[in-house]
Amino acid sequence: MPPDGVLPFGPLGPEPFSAYVHIPFCRVRCGYCDFNTYTATELGGGANQSNYAQTLRREIALAARMMHDGDASLPTLRTVFFGGGTPTLLPARDLAAILTALREEWELAPGAEVTTEANPDSVDAATFKTLKAAGFTRVSIGMQSSDPAVLATLERTHNPENVGKAVRWARDAGLDVSLDLIYGTPGESLDSWRRSLGDALELAPDHVSAYALIVEEGTKLAAQVRRGEVPDIDDDDHADKYVLADELLSAAGYTWYEVSNWARSAAHESQHNLAYWRGYNWWGFGPGAHSHINGVRWWNVKHPTAYAGKLENGDTPGAGYEKLTPDQAHMEQVLLRSRIREGLPIAKLARPGSGDTVDPGVIAGLIARGLIDPQRALAGTIELTLQGRLLADAVVHELLPT
Ligand SMILES: C[S@@+](CC[C@H](N)C(=O)[O-])C[C@H]1O[C@@H](n2cnc3c(N)ncnc32)[C@H](O)[C@@H]1O
Ligand code: SF4
Repeated sequence: MPPDGVLPFGPLGPEPFSAYVHIPFCRVRCGYCDFNTYTATELGGGANQSNYAQTLRREIALAARMMHDGDASLPTLRTVFFGGGTPTLLPARDLAAILTALREEWELAPGAEVTTEANPDSVDAATFKTLKAAGFTRVSIGMQSSDPAVLATLERTHNPENVGKAVRWARDAGLDVSLDLIYGTPGESLDSWRRSLGDALELAPDHVSAYALIVEEGTKLAAQVRRGEVPDIDDDDHADKYVLADELLSAAGYTWYEVSNWARSAAHESQHNLAYWRGYNWWGFGPGAHSHINGVRWWNVKHPTAYAGKLENGDTPGAGYEKLTPDQAHMEQVLLRSRIREGLPIAKLARPGSGDTVDPGVIAGLIARGLIDPQRALAGTIELTLQGRLLADAVVHELLPT
């Protein structure tokens, strides 16, 4: 929420609008994760889990009031995403109440996508039935790997058998299912990754996200790597595992639509994530949540106690905002759009106000090295090839000469 309570953007355009709801709680912290999340022992006072739904409702009501004041009409929500942390650590009735509060103020668009992330250890059949009845359509389950040794290195506490149960319960309730996988954990062999992919595919999810493990500064894993207790990650190993993932997922009928995301059909692509990559507008609720509307970005105070305190006092929880310059907005669009299969129109590569077009030699070079699809480039769009997806950052660097 903007820190001064004034919405620093003009009227909304016709593009879809989204909401992100951050749930900053985990039962234990996994050794590799640096998300804005806390265990019960790390939190006290007004930030506990039992009154968190109530705190969020305050921000939802305040946001709606601010938008009414600023623009008169609230856009309908095309997508809603509950992320964390572990949203399913809250009772399902609390998640349902938060969604109801959003619907009362903002209204869901017909066919809206409503997702929650879930940890396989914190759900049961009743959880998913309650969520479905409240209007959730989709669940994203943190599987990561099916190899107990890899899960131990990641300090994941879930039992791999619970993933299958969670998928069945979600399906029985009528929810779409996505699985999150991580590859490249130190000590993971190519065969172990192959088995994890096979086990994931056996569960026939609608959608799969496969992320290369990042050793984030400040995590326990980073300290273990620094002390030499755990080997560092290896870029070649990551590349081999990415190629294997694409091969097995494609053979099973899944198509990539973003570098780390595959779907069973276009209807199962995550509209919420696509909204981020397409640069649409969204409002982020909860501690540390970021928002973006019309090129203005803002973010909330990070700590749940500070967040709850602000709302209890009737203040906005906003901590800061920035307005993207035309150059920044352009860079961001190139960065995000070049990673999705629908691609980046070559016409959009020109720097704003420069009148320049991109050097045709750059495009020809990328085609010659097999990094972008020649047919799509001829038709005016950048789409990464498999080789290009492996080198996505380098491609973006070439498309954005300094
Ligand atoms: C908020 S978590 C998902 C829900 C739940 N907390 C869980 O972990 O099961 C979002 C996803 O971020 C990914 N993630 C977190 N830290 C990561 C890291 N350092 N490298 C790669 N992926 C990471 C994990 O795949 C995780 O499933
Ligand atoms: S990966 Fe998920 S469960 Fe583990 S600490 Fe991060 S948010 Fe929590």
